Amino acid sequence: KGSMSVEELPTTSGLENGHQAPFVIGVAGGASSGKSTVCKMIIDQLCDQRVVVVTQESFYYGLSDEEMVHVHDYNFDHPDAFDTDLLLSCMEKLKHGKAVDIPSYDFKTHKSVSCARKVNPSDVIILEGILLFHDSRVRDLMNMKIFVDTDADVRLTRRIRRDTIEKGRDIIAVLDQYSKFVKTAFEDFILPTKKYADIIIPRGADNSVAIDLIVQHIRTKLGQNDLCKIHPNLYVIQTTYQI
Ligand code: ADP
Ligand code: C5P
Ligand code: MG
Repeated sequence: KGSMSVEELPTTSGLENGHQAPFVIGVAGGASSGKSTVCKMIIDQLCDQRVVVVTQESFYYGLSDEEMVHVHDYNFDHPDAFDTDLLLSCMEKLKHGKAVDIPSYDFKTHKSVSCARKVNPSDVIILEGILLFHDSRVRDLMNMKIFVDTDADVRLTRRIRRDTIEKGRDIIAVLDQYSKFVKTAFEDFILPTKKYADIIIPRGADNSVAIDLIVQHIRTKLGQNDLCKIHPNLYVIQTTYQI
């Protein structure tokens, strides 16, 4: 009970020898529901597995000069705002063990910026974004689908705070965008995808029980149950529980 030992295990997981298909987790939910925060909590708990987060935001189409003139009429919450074909091709490469350049998106200029982020193949890929469950081809990439379910008033309050403080936006513009596009898109496109989720997390990052269970499941799927990797062929068995 509670004993600690170090064992040399055969490379049963196959993760360190050559390529094994990564475990892909999709995290969807309304804007400001807590998706990024939940992803961070999952990563923090996954010991030192190689985990990478790919956000749907990186695949926003840049706005043309004409669209920039009417930016307040642009719907950033519609599925057509994203280059889903590019997301799919990046994910295909990652799934086959190839490094990819993921575009970086600038929320101020509404354009992709030149410095793409190089992402290496990983054991776990977390795909995060408001509309990730909308396209069946993207859903089919996922081994586990999580929907972060947070009340609308909480999402709006957080959005106002984040967009005014972090994005430097005017509060009236934030409220206009919310009533014109964000609320409708949530009801028309995001909420209907909740049915595809394997796990629905009420209260987002406040729900530590749900996050613990998710991390436990991922570890089991990776053959890492109760194990914390410290060296390619060495594992510390953290705790042996006796029931
Ligand atoms: P999303 O990625 O779904 O848009 P975020 O995780 O970025 O949401 O959260 C939106 C904002 O709300 C951020 O400023 C974040 O720090 C804050 N936030 C997220 N979860 C919580 C929480 N449980 N309690 C308080 N603030 C939170
Ligand atoms: O991180 P989060 O899921 O909240 O990001 C999605 C939100 O970002 C969408 O609701 C969209 O309205 C907003 N967005 C924006 N300006 C952009 C791109 C996205 O306000 N240029
Ligand atoms: Mg986010």
